[in-house]
Amino acid sequence: MPSRRGKARSARSGATRRPAKRHPTADALARKIESRSANLAVVGLGYVGLPLAVEFAQAGFHVLGIDVDAARVRRLTAGESYIRDVPTGDVRALVRSGHLQATTDFAALKRADVVNVCVPTPLSKQRDPDMSFVLAASEQVAKHLRPGMLVILESTTYPGTTDELILPLLEKTGLKVGRDFFLAFSPERVDPGNARFNTRNIPKVVGGVTRACTEAAVLLYRQRLEAVVPVSSPQVAEMVKLLENTFRSVNIGLVNEIALLCRRLKIDVWEVIEAAATKPFGFMPFYPGPGLGGHCIPIDPFYLSWKARASGFETRFIELAGHINGQMPAHVVDLVAESLNRRGRAVRGSRVLVLGVAYKADIDDIRESPSLDILQTLVERGAHVEYSDPYVPTLEFAGRKLRSVPLTATNLKRFDCVVIATAHRSIPFATVLRHAKGVVDTRNALKGKRSDAIVRL
Ligand SMILES: NC(=O)c1ccc[n+]([C@@H]2O[C@H](COP(=O)([O-])OP(=O)(O)OC[C@H]3O[C@@H](n4cnc5c(N)ncnc54)[C@H](O)[C@@H]3O)[C@@H](O)[C@H]2O)c1
Repeated sequence: MPSRRGKARSARSGATRRPAKRHPTADALARKIESRSANLAVVGLGYVGLPLAVEFAQAGFHVLGIDVDAARVRRLTAGESYIRDVPTGDVRALVRSGHLQATTDFAALKRADVVNVCVPTPLSKQRDPDMSFVLAASEQVAKHLRPGMLVILESTTYPGTTDELILPLLEKTGLKVGRDFFLAFSPERVDPGNARFNTRNIPKVVGGVTRACTEAAVLLYRQRLEAVVPVSSPQVAEMVKLLENTFRSVNIGLVNEIALLCRRLKIDVWEVIEAAATKPFGFMPFYPGPGLGGHCIPIDPFYLSWKARASGFETRFIELAGHINGQMPAHVVDLVAESLNRRGRAVRGSRVLVLGVAYKADIDDIRESPSLDILQTLVERGAHVEYSDPYVPTLEFAGRKLRSVPLTATNLKRFDCVVIATAHRSIPFATVLRHAKGVVDTRNALKGKRSDAIVRL
């Protein structure tokens, strides 16, 4: 039986030494992976699962996607992508060649040799980890677990999840990890909308429950991904992801606080950051903004603080950054009030256009978007709100279906204030400035423009 913990090895794929002797089950799985005859299943076909399924299918594996969302499964089966970063042409070709299939039926797991779990990990109403999706998916995997299977959790989660939550579920079957089946955690680091880095060229961190588990997972990813980084345990891999996202949250919190201070001191924070970023070492630019958004940065650090609390430890940086970042949408609304005030108007009764409701530039994802908080707060203060976003044609908001307002001169002139909340590259910012009565710029989209109509964050 292999030792329970492998050691962290070289950061480049290809550098992991093959063990002198592998258990027959591990050996059989390795042969299937290397010959591409292993059947792969990806559970959860969203922003993470679909690109991963497509990469493996393009590597020549037969990949079965399983999702509880019947509409997504129908679209995939028809060869259509619903994720912007995944071209429909790629999906169609893979569906036609039979390398990619999708289903809502978990019985299909019976045929799987490898299962990647990519389901959501949101927060509960109390802002604690909501593990219900991971548990539901893992129970299905447990039902169909059989000797020789490799199970990898990719959903972002607190350190200890794989060992404490998933492993007992799978071992209840009587099968033994590292001998009969293999279990690992590998965080997904995909950055939607990033044209340079994608599932294939972002190094993949992998931590298995046993050394054999790590080796099996590393071998799988090496078939397609450019770099694989084995670490000594699932806990390390789980913590890596939370460190990365906490690092972003804390640094954004710091720069948001500096932005608030700079405003008080009448210093242009954007100019400060740009100049500071010329330092060739020891400084990494982060930018202020209207608040955190997306499925990761506003949520993941609270997985860590929850785990810390359970261990009697207080994560003060996380709480403080959460507090500062959480105040930013209200601060933006104060800037709207300032913009209107300059022209002798009140928020109540004014017409405000929020420009960009996706949580970041050049994507269509509105999850946790600070624009939604800004819209909500403006409504509470009596403003009439509309929005414009080239990537979000309609928006369910406060029980109404809003439509994206086209950015024409006539439309822009209808509003008392325009809030630039997301700087999509395709937005004609010069046109916005030319026709808007007042603009609150939270993204420095109007960099270099001088006008009394602009209020900058
Ligand atoms: N979106 C990102 O940029 C990103 C980046 C890195 C990591 N992550 C993490 O990856 C995980 C997945 O995120 P996502 O953005 O892909 O989510 P998503 O909501 O886009 O996709 C999740 C999919 O899982 C499906 N699903 C839910 N419960 C299921 C179940 N029991 N069985 C099968 N399918 C189920 C949903 O229908 C959905 O299609 C999360 O833990 C997230 O934190 C996301």
